[in-house]
Amino acid sequence: MFAVFMSCLFCFLPVSWSAPLSCENLLRPLDQIEPQRLKGRWAMVAVSLEDPAVQEVLRRSDSVTLDFYNASYTQSHRDGDVCHYYPRNISVDGSSVKIQVGSFNFTGTVFSTSCLDCYVFTLLLKTSTYQSQSLNLLSKRREIEQKEMEEFRAQTECLKLPPPVEMHPTKELCPEQTGSTAEEGAEGQSA
Ligand SMILES: *[C@@H]1O[C@H](CO)[C@@H](O)[C@H](O)[C@H]1NC(C)=O
Ligand SMILES: *[C@@H]1O[C@H](CO)[C@@H](O)[C@H](O)[C@H]1NC(C)=O
Ligand SMILES: *[C@@H]1O[C@H](CO)[C@@H](O)[C@H](O)[C@H]1NC(C)=O
Repeated sequence: MFAVFMSCLFCFLPVSWSAPLSCENLLRPLDQIEPQRLKGRWAMVAVSLEDPAVQEVLRRSDSVTLDFYNASYTQSHRDGDVCHYYPRNISVDGSSVKIQVGSFNFTGTVFSTSCLDCYVFTLLLKTSTYQSQSLNLLSKRREIEQKEMEEFRAQTECLKLPPPVEMHPTKELCPEQTGSTAEEGAEGQSA
């Protein structure tokens, strides 16, 4: 019995050696978000949402794009031939972000990641009757390396969030929204 226990102990050891990152290491807030670096076009590569209804909305979207400007961004969702645009204001302070969507305030934290052209951040919506958190991964690439995705998956586990939805890497992004042709979509909580 002891031998079985010992051999089991040893067969697990390599696993724990290959995954040495603790949640403390995986969830280290960035020192400072650099607004200049944030600017431009990012693709949503993966997202994990506590709220299954919102997770389902994202699962059905072909692609999600975020175009960042100085203090605002536009999130676009492609649904077949249709693009929905959601303009939003964002304020950034250290590793914290605040986004106001209608009367709802989302707050979030940006975490450091080994993925160099990525942003990993939580968004939390908390009201007196509702609370839902998400972990989002934006990248300049449409698809990230397996080990980068594993790191993200580990981050979702640390936050006790469901397994992430990975967006389809080859489906077209929406074109950048231009001025008055903007279509205002219904407000969702998929900020
Ligand atoms: C963004 O900020 C920079 C410097 O703070 C400013 O020069 C530029 O005009 C701003 N752009 C927009 C679109 O507000
Ligand atoms: C963003 O802020 C500006 C200036 O405060 C405001 O005019 C605009 O309506 C806001 N946009 C959104 C989408 O909240
Ligand atoms: C959201 O934030 C704004 C600005 O900080 C504040 O005026 C507003 O009361 C907040 N709304 C809620 C529902 O907390």
